[in-house]
Formats: sequence, structure tokens, C-alpha cells
Amino acid sequence: MDFKIAVLPGDGIGPEISKVGVDVMTAVCEKFGHKVTYEYAICGADAIDKVGDPFPEETFQTCLRADAVLFSAVGDPKFDNNPTAKVRPEQGLLAMRKKLGLYANVRPMQTFKSLLHKSPLRPELVDGADFITIRELTGGMYFGEKYQDNDKAYDTNYYTRPEIERIIKVGYEYARRRNHHLTIVDKANVLASSRLWRQIGQELEKEYPDVKTDYMYVDNASMRMIQEPKFFDVIVTENTFGDILTDESSCISGSMGLLPSASTGDSTPVFEPVHGSWPQAKGLNIANPLAQVLSDAMLFEYFGMQKEADLIRDAVDASIDQNVRTPDIQVEGGAKYGTKEVGAWLVEYIQKA
Ligand code: IPM
Ligand code: MN
Repeated sequence: MDFKIAVLPGDGIGPEISKVGVDVMTAVCEKFGHKVTYEYAICGADAIDKVGDPFPEETFQTCLRADAVLFSAVGDPKFDNNPTAKVRPEQGLLAMRKKLGLYANVRPMQTFKSLLHKSPLRPELVDGADFITIRELTGGMYFGEKYQDNDKAYDTNYYTRPEIERIIKVGYEYARRRNHHLTIVDKANVLASSRLWRQIGQELEKEYPDVKTDYMYVDNASMRMIQEPKFFDVIVTENTFGDILTDESSCISGSMGLLPSASTGDSTPVFEPVHGSWPQAKGLNIANPLAQVLSDAMLFEYFGMQKEADLIRDAVDASIDQNVRTPDIQVEGGAKYGTKEVGAWLVEYIQKA
């Protein structure tokens, strides 16, 4: 296949891990005879500094022209402590999601055998846990009507039937390809929006008799996730609940720096690490590039290229097993590899495979 990839390195450690993501992508394409071209674009604080907009029109056009977007991270501390800032890097991320219609955000919870000791949970709870959360990404409180003055403020958790139907269907499709178990997470005992989610879930359930459907309140789900992570196969939920639950799921494995994600919808899909821009580590060559690299794997998988994705995952597993690790996941006394060195090792592994 001919790939046209939009590369959005963003802020903080973004450019460093982006480089590794691109190098691995190039190596895999060479190996399997795909032609790949890259077009770079700015976003986040970098774009605010350069053109005053965290997701400029030109970047949007670059994304539209591409088959997929390889995104890294946005965010800069100079905006965090200024609640009156008119533009913020995160707005770029939200604009990208909305403009590209990226309504389905898939965040896998994956464990790595040799890193089980890093989990805050007992290894027997975590070993074998493997689930994905599908987070609705373009609706709910994030985008509903907002108001704020000095005395009152509100956000509206607005959802329409088509928005709910399409995302629950995505949940069922994933469940069909996995272990046929879908958990629809809501707060239907309190929220009207959640009651519509549950009503639509119950309607759609009949179309997927091969999938076991559970309904779970979000408070209960957050508890179950750490008590019995192996219970879950596919979770589908609304934007805000998904934001919170996926941070929780990302630390179960003990190595948040390793988790990729995919956002798909109406237009060009986006592949990015779950972690943020870690500005304190910028330029230090210590950031873990594996989440970015595993995002490449999700990209290939999206296009039905399983062999390409598997090779990337093999390379990542091998690097961890052979202790080629950045400081965040290195064992005591182990050699600490830099971002670039891990990248070079992965590329060589792929070339030799
Ligand atoms: C995420 C992030 C974003 C979100 C922020 C940076 C706007 O936390 O992708 O989970 O809340 O969606
Ligand atoms: Mn989040």
C-alpha cells in the first residue's frame, strides 16, 4: 500500500518520540514493500507560539490529505498555571478530534510479563488481564453547551441517539473480534443522558446475540477495574467517564509510558500514545518511545496489516525482554538506554527480522 502519513510531533517529548515512531514506520514499510511519505504539521503550544492557534487550518488540511495521523503529545506548563489563558494547547487536541470526527477512541490495557512487578496491583490480579476501553470522543460534556460567570457555571452532557448508536456498535464490533463480552458503562441511576445510553444499549443488544452484554455504573466499574481487571473484555462509555476510566486502566499495567491509542471516525484516523508531553524531560533523550511505536502497530492493524503490526509488537517485546529499556522501566542496575538508542535497536530488529 501507498501510505501518506501526517506527522504531528507537538510539544515536550513529542518530537523525540515522534522521530522513533517515524523511523519504525519507515523500517516496517521497507520490509513489507509499502511506500510511505510523511507530511509534518504543527500543533499544541508549539503552534500557539508560531501562529497563535493550537490546531491551525493548515494542520487540519494536512490531516485531511493523509491516510493516517501519527500524533505525539501536546501541553506546556506555561499554560497550566494560567486559568485565564485564552488559548490552550489542549484546545488543539479537542479541535482535531471534532474537526476530524474522531468519535471512537480505543485505549487498550495491555500487560507485559516482564513488567508485571511494576503494577500497583498484585501480579496475580494483573497477569492475563487484557481489555480495551472505547471512549466516545466528540460528544458529552466536553462539547455540550457551557456557561461560566463568577457565581455559576455549567457544562451540558448532551448526547443524541445517532452518536450513542454508532459508538455502541463500535463496541460490539470490537467485542466480536475479541472475547464476545461488552460492558456498557454509564450512570443511569442518576443521569438522563446515561439512561438514553442504556436504552439504546438494550435495543442494540438484540442484534448481537453472540456477545454477552453487561451494564455497569461508572462508580462500580472504576472499583471492578482494580479489583478484578480480568473481568473486562471491551468497555464502551461516554466521553468524560472514558477519560477517567482510561487513566485508571493505564496504570494497572504499571507502565503508562507503554500504552498506545487509536481515534477513528468520519475522516483520517489518529494514532497516539496515551501519555502526555512530559515537558520536564524535553530534550533529555529519556522518554520511553514504546507507546508511540505501539501506536504504529495500531495504525497497521487499522489498515488490516496484521503481519506488520505483529512485527512491531515482537520488536517491542524483544526490546523489553533483552533489557533495552528507557529509565522508567529499567530494572535496578540495568543499562539505561536513551529514546534514540531504543529506537535504533527496534529499527535494527525489524530490518533483521
Ligand atoms: C486525554 C486527555 C485530554 C482529554 C485532555 C488533554 C484534553 O486527558 O486524551 O485523555 O481530557 O480528553
Ligand atoms: Mn485523559
